[in-house]
Amino acid sequence: MAEHAVHPAYPVGLRLSGRRVVVVGGGQVAQRRLPALIAAGADIVLVSPSATASVEAMADAGEIRWERRVYADGDLTDTWYALIASDDTAANDAASAEAERTRTWCVRSDDADAATAWTPATGRSEGITVAVLTTDGQGGRDPRHSAAVRDAIVEGLRDGTLAAPHHRTRTPGVALVGGGPGDPDLITVRGRRLLAEADVVIADRLGPRDLLDELPPHVEVIDAAKIPYGRYMAQEAINNALIEHAKAGKSVVRLKGGDPFVFGRGMEEAQALAAEGIACTVVPGISSSISVPGAAGIPVTHRGVAHEFTVVSGHVAPDDERSLVDWSAVARLRGTLVLLMAVDKIGAIARALIAHGKSPDTPVALVQEGTTAAQRRVDATLATVGERAEAEDVRPPAVIVIGDVVVVGTTTTGSSVE
Ligand SMILES: C[S@@+](CC[C@H](N)C(=O)[O-])C[C@H]1O[C@@H](n2cnc3c(N)ncnc32)[C@H](O)[C@@H]1O
Repeated sequence: MAEHAVHPAYPVGLRLSGRRVVVVGGGQVAQRRLPALIAAGADIVLVSPSATASVEAMADAGEIRWERRVYADGDLTDTWYALIASDDTAANDAASAEAERTRTWCVRSDDADAATAWTPATGRSEGITVAVLTTDGQGGRDPRHSAAVRDAIVEGLRDGTLAAPHHRTRTPGVALVGGGPGDPDLITVRGRRLLAEADVVIADRLGPRDLLDELPPHVEVIDAAKIPYGRYMAQEAINNALIEHAKAGKSVVRLKGGDPFVFGRGMEEAQALAAEGIACTVVPGISSSISVPGAAGIPVTHRGVAHEFTVVSGHVAPDDERSLVDWSAVARLRGTLVLLMAVDKIGAIARALIAHGKSPDTPVALVQEGTTAAQRRVDATLATVGERAEAEDVRPPAVIVIGDVVVVGTTTTGSSVE
């Protein structure tokens, strides 16, 4: 095959929908390659005496046909493409000889030189397929290099740092983007890309503020807390700002802390935009209610300890008639309680929970500025939490976790939650 090796491979996109593809061998290679072949709509026949559990699940789901036997001559009849990846070299040699004879393009996992096709390192982002093949200088493949280049390209496409200027997928209207709890790495890939493509960003105080520094200079960044609201309510003024910029044809990102729909007033903003006929995309975010306890080593559920968790707003004091929370019902819950916006009222909330029957010894943790460099955790019990929060000067933003899950992590050494 020396004459093949000196020439670079010719790249092509195979349209395999409804076409017979034969996979020889049901091991790890097949497991990695099959999803893309299934996604391509290929008519896949797996020939293999055994298969990994994941490959078997694909057969059970009817995504592939599995013939539980070794390869036999003739298996490649009417086949467009073959993936030869068994651990039986003799079977691989025989299958690839048949492929050569029948002019079936064939990939061989155990012998790249004997193959007539090579699988590029592939990745996808928003309708773009990236396929990378690199050579090692002698005309052979360099799969690691291909994968590294592919990763760099796909990451750039996803986070918006790599964009074809004339094909920039600007999202008209407004995207309500959940920015996660604060660590800039904890925003979704989609959120980050939309942020990179925005003309205007209206940001909350909470969330990944560090990301705003990375935006190009032409992007207008507006601090939602500083939008003047004169005769409007603050929320109404924010809605008006969103509407005004969207109507000016700008691509607007409303960057919110955590998830837009967890105490985030996201739906109010979506409704205000809908009333003006403005398209609005909602990008979920990692809510502080789960991630902040996790970052402090507290799982909100734990087998045998808590099989439910309830997220409650502590914004309104229990004895305030405007409170929509039934604290007596909350006190009866056996699982974990996660309180948001509750630092100021935690003393009163703890008293109400105890008065309604919750044990004063229930463990409590306050996690301030979770996932940021300033993260701190203060532990207490329901009986002591009011005093502890004051004595330790715990300030918002903090998530308060009440329940036995608070102490399960303290018995686990050496674990780290990122
Ligand atoms: C208006 S709510 C918004 C919640 C947000 N939508 C979410 O899903 O995380 C604000 C509250 O979230 C909590 N919070 C948000 N980010 C936090 C963080 N990094 N550390 C601790 N608490 C946080 C605090 O309880 C704060 O008072």
